[in-house]
Amino acid sequence: MKIFIDSADIDEIKAAFSWGFVDGVTTNPSLIKMAAEKHGAKNLENYVSSVLAAVGRGHDVSLEVLGGSFQAMIQQGKVLYNKFSGVGARVVVKIPVNPLLKQNECADVEYDGIRAIHALAKEGIPVNTTLVMAPEQALLAAKAGAKYVSPFAGRIDDFVRECCFCNYKKTDYFPQEGIKISPDEILDDNGIVSGVDLVAKIVQIFRNYDLKTEVLAASVRNARQVRELALAGAHISTIPFGVLTQMVRHEKTYEGMQKFTADIVPEYRVLFD
Ligand code: E4P
Repeated sequence: MKIFIDSADIDEIKAAFSWGFVDGVTTNPSLIKMAAEKHGAKNLENYVSSVLAAVGRGHDVSLEVLGGSFQAMIQQGKVLYNKFSGVGARVVVKIPVNPLLKQNECADVEYDGIRAIHALAKEGIPVNTTLVMAPEQALLAAKAGAKYVSPFAGRIDDFVRECCFCNYKKTDYFPQEGIKISPDEILDDNGIVSGVDLVAKIVQIFRNYDLKTEVLAASVRNARQVRELALAGAHISTIPFGVLTQMVRHEKTYEGMQKFTADIVPEYRVLFD
């Protein structure tokens, strides 16, 4: 499984790439807002360019359109691609699978995201389909030509548990097999019992039909969820910095380090002279 960092913070991105296991970056408007505030970046064009330059060639960085109509998303996608390609990393345009901004009651307006993916893909612009909450959306985006589909695992966990639990933290583990609320009832969203279940079902559908689009599991909340996403066959997980650092920690590893350090005899130190 490839690992992307889900961040627009240049310090986090540089640190994560220095570890040698990061393959790409995903951003969204909320992450860019946070990073710009932290770094006092007034000129976002310069800031985004510096992120792409820091990441460097051979890695993908997803940048999101503002959403809206088909025409607006096409135009914004091209602007992002043309403005930032050549700065460093490869630009992938993030398009919401369905922008949900109904401008009129025309039935086809709801499919603007899919049409925009198809139009950009036909021009050779790579697309990451964002805000995927159902396997059906992923199938349509893949057939339309998306390079990646991003199922939002954590937000599906939130959605499923919101109807029953008032008190939970976003980072709390949510079981991939879902939560039983009676002997024969599991909480679900139209048959999806967890975020990992959503990802697993998309992976299975893509395998069934040999679709080349990669499943980029997003909205990742904790290390155990990453393990389950890898077992489910996600091609990529995009992971926040805090979860990346959590993945390497274990209290017994720390305890082992302390014990080994305490047992170092002077003769052993001499070996390193
Ligand atoms: C990445 O591509 C997504 O925008 C991101 O993972 C969303 O994560 P969140 O649900 O924690 O905001």
